[in-house]
Order: sequence, then C-alpha cells, then structure tokens
Amino acid sequence: MTTVLLIGKVHPRVRDRLAGHFDILELPKADAGNVTAEMAEKVTGTASFNAMPSSLIDALPNVKLIANFGVGYDGVDVRHAAAKGIIVTNTPDVLDEEVADTTLGLLLNTLRLLPQAENWLRAGRWAKEGPFRLSPLSLRGRHIGMYGMGRIGQQIAGRLAAFNVKISYHTRRPNSDVPYGYVGSLKELAETVDTLVCIVPKTPETRQTINTEILKALGKNGVLINVGRGWTVSEDDLAKALENGDIAGAGLDVFEDEPNVPEALMKFDNVSLLPHVASASVITRNAMADLVSDNLIAYFEKGAPLTPVPETPFKK
Ligand code: DGY
Repeated sequence: MTTVLLIGKVHPRVRDRLAGHFDILELPKADAGNVTAEMAEKVTGTASFNAMPSSLIDALPNVKLIANFGVGYDGVDVRHAAAKGIIVTNTPDVLDEEVADTTLGLLLNTLRLLPQAENWLRAGRWAKEGPFRLSPLSLRGRHIGMYGMGRIGQQIAGRLAAFNVKISYHTRRPNSDVPYGYVGSLKELAETVDTLVCIVPKTPETRQTINTEILKALGKNGVLINVGRGWTVSEDDLAKALENGDIAGAGLDVFEDEPNVPEALMKFDNVSLLPHVASASVITRNAMADLVSDNLIAYFEKGAPLTPVPETPFKK
C-alpha cells in the first residue's frame, strides 16, 4: 500500500481523507533529522504546508509526489524535486476569490481606518467622546497599480473595477487577456499610480523589490498593500518611508519572517496588519485541503496529478 507522510501541522481534513486511501505516517516538523528508517523506506507521497526543503526531499528517497497545501510553493525546493523527477502540486484557483475578497477588505481597512473605528465604538468612546475622526484617506479617485496580474491578481482587479477606480499593472510580460493598462517597469508603475497592490510570488526576482526607491516613487499620498509574500517588501525601508511620511499608509497580510512582525511597523496608526489570513476561511481552507488530497489520490490511483506546478516533470 502507498504510504503518505503528513509533514508539520496538516489540515485535519487532509488526514481524514487520505486515511481512507493510504497508510499515513506523520512528521511533526519539516526536519530531515527526524525522518525514521520506516519513513525513508516506505514514503512515496507527502502533504505539507509550504515546507519541503532539499534536505527533507533527499531524506525520503522514494518520494514521487509532493502535495503542497497553498498556491505559493516557495517553501518547497521545487527545482531540486524536479531534478530528481519528483512531481510537486499546489492548490491554485480554489483560493483566488477568497484572497481577492480579503485584499479589498485590507485596502478599505487601511484607507478608511475601519478597525480603528470599531475599536473606538467598542471602547465606548463614540458615546462618551462623539464620532470617530474622518479618515484622511479614501478609495475615491485612487489609481491602483497591480504588481502581479496572475489568477489572484485578476480577481483583485475585477473587484477593484467594480469599485470604479482606475487600474494599471506591471508584470514581467503584458497579459493580452486583461483590459488594464500595462506599465513596463515597477518604478514607472509606482510613479503612475497612488496605490500599489502586490500579489507576486516569492522568487529570486521579487526579493525586496518594494524598497525606498519604489516607495518614494509612489509618493506622499501613496498606499502600499501586500498580500503576496513578505519577501517582496523591504520592511526596514517601509518603516522608514512611513516614519518620514514618504507614503500615506500600508496594509500587510504577509511578512518576511512570519509569525514575527517587526515592532517598527506596529506603531503606525496608518498601517493595517493581518496575520496572513487572506485564504483563511473554513470554506476555502477545506477546498485547499481537498485539492491536496485529490492530487495524491489522482496520482497514486490514476497516474496523473490534478494541479502539477510548471517546474515539475509531469506535463498535463
Ligand atoms: C498560499 O496559498 O500561498 C497562501 O499564502 C496560504 O495562505
């Protein structure tokens, strides 16, 4: 019987579903040092939440499929896996709309100070002191620059269009399927718009691409929203830009060293911070869990995974 290794904290639905199809072993952390001889011999499939370093891949010599929980698979050494002929799958599509919904919520929270307004009410200050202050920022009249226009980016842009704001975007290549204006560089995009929404993956090319130069280009009325990966933003540069008033605000759902959030970002009232919850609803996490299981079941029972990543040796 096929043996699947559940690595780290795995969604209970994955465990329940896979137990009906495979023998299950569990590894509490993505640490090659804790791989037992039984795991090394028997495991041919794995399920984990964006954690599969090359050392762990090497410690499991019979692995054929790595099923990643999450659309982002930067925590999986995908090139190492591909070089060894191992397939990696992720969970695209099923979370696109949830992440897009959350992005709009984060953007509005950042601009309109809605969490702060609710705290005002809950603290009894509305009744004692009167109405909450007017928000200095608004979505009205904003020009949004999408940094990233993949599946999730397109869902975000579609929602923004319904909010009646202007949208431009930058990615490596223009996408002829989208109706928004393409801008050839991130710097030019930041100069053109007043609100930057980052939804790019963690790759060597995206590291700290949002830095002092880009934040200054965004300008004093500028707002930065990041729902991709913390890696994309230099948090030191962002804290300095907020301190100096180089931009007007920021909304972040992702951080470089999660779950650690820099103290320097906590003190600003014009910053809205979320603990990486963009896809974190019961319905969406269930759908992601099902896709993890479906990939393992489809591969081991029918020979073809459902959502292999592009770097992977398996071609649909
Ligand atoms: C993803 O799917 O990559 C998300 O960031 C996980 O929440």
